[in-house]
Amino acid sequence: MSDDISPIEAAKSAAALRAAGYVKSGMKVGLGTGSTAAWLVKHLGKMVREDGLEIIGVPTSIRTAEQAREEGIPITTLDEARWLDLTIDGADEYDADLALIKGGGGALLHEKVVATASDRMIVIADESKFVDRLGAFPLPVEVLGFGMGTTRMLLEEMLEGLDVTGTKAVPRMAGDDLFVTDEGNHILDLHLGRIGNARQLSLVLNQVPGVVENGLFVDICDICITAFSDGRVELRDAHNGKVEKSEPENAFADLSD
Ligand code: 5RP
Repeated sequence: MSDDISPIEAAKSAAALRAAGYVKSGMKVGLGTGSTAAWLVKHLGKMVREDGLEIIGVPTSIRTAEQAREEGIPITTLDEARWLDLTIDGADEYDADLALIKGGGGALLHEKVVATASDRMIVIADESKFVDRLGAFPLPVEVLGFGMGTTRMLLEEMLEGLDVTGTKAVPRMAGDDLFVTDEGNHILDLHLGRIGNARQLSLVLNQVPGVVENGLFVDICDICITAFSDGRVELRDAHNGKVEKSEPENAFADLSD
């Protein structure tokens, strides 16, 4: 077992490795963003360099594009690819229906566009991401810089009438400045506590004109692969509700370069 990797990182790597098994030569693959997706890009890079895997990746952020290039994975834009076989990405929270909160890393807009332009989306997660009810993780909402204060006020007012327990919309910062997304927009993190109806909330949020997109992914994820720090891996399928559990594996295997 490697000494310099924590159990949680090993779990992320194990989930990513299991998801990489769904990637076959000839596929166009959406590459997610975040620390778990970074493990996927690392594993796919190794498969491209050492096993002759031939894929084209469509990165969901500038930083994933940089990593994919470093790993030797050929990449293109979504416009070039048009439609993808598979997207694999992380999540900040997911529930038993595989509804997700995404955008902790600020890439929710490209992530949603790429995932919905894919035949299949697989989410990779460690055990901390599963929740009974979405909402403890602040929901990221990408908003225009223009009139952001007004958008924030409208969102907070609108949330008063919805099935949530909190209504605060907090601008995301990067040091002393507002966080800027790859599209040049900003993010409001909604501290909702508990989301009663994710589908309804997602639709209503996008009705506010200054909102570009929200981080709720409902009916988008097909499979969620969760890895536990003891090496167990669990696979949930949104279509048949099946949960497959596998016995502990060596979660630290295959981490070497
Ligand atoms: C980025 C995302 C990430 O998928 C999400 O934040 C999970 O990240 P991590 O794998 O680092 O926990 O939505 O916008």
